Amino acid sequence: MRKTITIAIANQKGGVGKTTTAVNLASALANVGYEVALVDCDPQAHASTFVYDREKLDATLTDVICTRWNHAQPGRPMRLPFEHIRSAVYTTSFARLDIIPSNIGMAAFDRDTAPAIDRLEEALRDVAEHYDFLILDCPPNLGLLFTAALKAAEHVIVPVAAQYLPLEGVGDLLQSLDEMIARRKLNILGALMTLFDARTSLARNAVEAVRQDATLGPRLFETMITVNTKLAEAPAYHVPIHAYQEQSAGSIRAIQQFDELALEVLNRLQLPARKKDEKRSIRMAK
Ligand SMILES: Nc1ncnc2c1ncn2[C@@H]1O[C@H](COP(=O)(O)OP(=O)(O)OP(=O)(O)O)[C@@H](O)[C@H]1O
Ligand SMILES: [Mg+2]
Repeated sequence: MRKTITIAIANQKGGVGKTTTAVNLASALANVGYEVALVDCDPQAHASTFVYDREKLDATLTDVICTRWNHAQPGRPMRLPFEHIRSAVYTTSFARLDIIPSNIGMAAFDRDTAPAIDRLEEALRDVAEHYDFLILDCPPNLGLLFTAALKAAEHVIVPVAAQYLPLEGVGDLLQSLDEMIARRKLNILGALMTLFDARTSLARNAVEAVRQDATLGPRLFETMITVNTKLAEAPAYHVPIHAYQEQSAGSIRAIQQFDELALEVLNRLQLPARKKDEKRSIRMAK
């Protein structure tokens, strides 16, 4: 039986690069031979659109974990059965990278009843054997979906934007994580500086602030993701940066940074830098 590693990318602050990290870390790991599923745990469905054309989607994670009702008969709504997670798995154009997408309907999860918390973890158990990594992109809040994602994960990576007040709200996040760590095995695998611009003292001060943090400082990845327009452009083509056709200094730098991050992640997990003798390739499945 293969050991599947589940990593949640979490920070309740919006726009800090969670989705960009989830998508491109996932493709970097796939690129060195690991089988990866990107699991979109955010109703905004950005990770889904980053790697897949949403028009082509049928079932999503919403149908797997959210209670849904058929209102065809007025006054007598019928609860619809949950879909099996297998029906919500899609291959992307990138080799060894699958997506389990969400949609806006998943916002209903946060209004669901408490037992819903376990559904994601249970559903993922049914597909885990097919993957080396499950990478969970979390929503920008500490709601039920966030809790469900963290419950399903054994590791968490916290992206922190190298901007003004980088640790704003991180205290609440760490408190939530601490509660989960106290109850079961959850490991903060690392903190990642994102949107870093070495030319500004603001960015350098932000890194310093994270370095001083008792929890995140010692876990800070050496790799930093710099501000890079290519990372913002690639999603428009529904591809991770590794498959972005436009070769430029910017895209090559972004690929290098995510490859270095993947290497650090694999090192911390004591896994080989490359799975088997898989050749490094930007191989398209179709
Ligand atoms: N290194 C970068 N350089 C330039 N733009 C970036 C970079 N990282 C992310 N972006 C852009 O910044 C925006 C926010 O990034 P992203 O969606 O990854 O953040 P998020 O934390 O997932 O946001 P949310 O909290 O809304 O889910 C996106 O438009 C993304 O393309
Ligand atoms: Mg996001």
